[in-house]
Amino acid sequence: MFKGEPVHPLPLTVDLDPEKVALGDKLFHDRMLSGDDTLNCAFCHDLARGGTDQARVAIGIRGQEGPINSPTVYNAMYNIAQFWDGRAKDLQEQAAGPVANHVEMGAEWDKVIKKLNNVEHYRDAFAKLYPEEGLTQSTVTHAIAVFEESLVTPNSRFDRYLRGEQDMLTEDEKDGYDLFKTHCASCHFGPVLGGLSYEKMGLKQDYFKLRGGEPTEVDNGRFNVTGQEKDRHFFKAPVLRNIELTYPYFHDGSVNDLAEAVRIMAKVQRGKNLTDNETAKIVAFLNTLTGEYQGKPLTQLTIEDIK
Ligand code: HEC
Ligand code: HEC
Repeated sequence: MFKGEPVHPLPLTVDLDPEKVALGDKLFHDRMLSGDDTLNCAFCHDLARGGTDQARVAIGIRGQEGPINSPTVYNAMYNIAQFWDGRAKDLQEQAAGPVANHVEMGAEWDKVIKKLNNVEHYRDAFAKLYPEEGLTQSTVTHAIAVFEESLVTPNSRFDRYLRGEQDMLTEDEKDGYDLFKTHCASCHFGPVLGGLSYEKMGLKQDYFKLRGGEPTEVDNGRFNVTGQEKDRHFFKAPVLRNIELTYPYFHDGSVNDLAEAVRIMAKVQRGKNLTDNETAKIVAFLNTLTGEYQGKPLTQLTIEDIK
């Protein structure tokens, strides 16, 4: 049914060790991973807010403002690499970063491991689930990565449409999907409509001029990883699943409104000025991409559901 489509539905279930998922979940929500026990991963990746903080840029330990917008952790396992510039090769490598980052969680790993080792349920869980290695930085980040692999959001209206429920989408939403295939899917493709390639921000028109303001170091994107001029302003094409919840948009968090982000994309990536009608249809389509976590639509998920 969806053969030949640039977008594929997300799997309804994922096959993971439930005990490792539960352990990773606990760690993801544990403030002991920060230097002063104030922040956990969920502070910036709130599962009840689309896996983000819904803030322009991340605010870390002691209220420090970071340089860049927090991407979602939902469906991050589909990314070819992690971070906007792809500097971490996978979720496990990524998870080591924020803990030791002085403007994020501001901790030192050996101290975090010591703190966790003082807690009986962690000692027991690691002894059972990682009998060879026990509780180490590498097993802690591994458990977090396994938990993140469980953060898949299936069953969006669009996925149900792809699976054959034709009446799941309105005519406008279907038109929006057609427009999306014409103008956007060359970069936003695959199961999460992104995450699979590095693309220039401003392929057809200079985004940074349009945005205004001083260029920052993070604006260089993938150039910061490779040092190659050809990679300047390249970013991993972001995941568009649950995009209605993951505002503000772009690596700089400069755009709050999804319609505005769509207009800018068409302009700077395609050199095309969308009409208001076309923009509204693409936005209508994008809003059908909101899925479920633990059987509940992301829009209805509350703090209580995820404790
Ligand atoms: C202070 C806010 C903050 C905290 C706390 C935080 N993150 Fe992040 N996270 C960010 C920001 C900002 C980025 C993007 C950084 C970049 O790309 O340079 C990010 C990126 C990520 C990504 C990559 C997603 C993608 O699309 O590339 C993952 C996965 C992630 N964080 C998981 C975690 C985990 C796991 C923890 C806890 C160990 C954590 N984060 C703690 C702010 C935070
Ligand atoms: C040439 C590749 C390319 C094309 C074509 C493209 N995009 Fe993007 N898109 C990107 C990249 C790269 C980013 C991240 C840029 C940044 O943050 O600086 C992005 C970001 C976005 C975002 C913000 C996501 C977030 O989490 O912040 C949205 C929404 C978006 N694109 C929608 C679209 C739509 C709709 C179209 C078609 C009109 C489109 N894109 C066309 C590459 C592309």
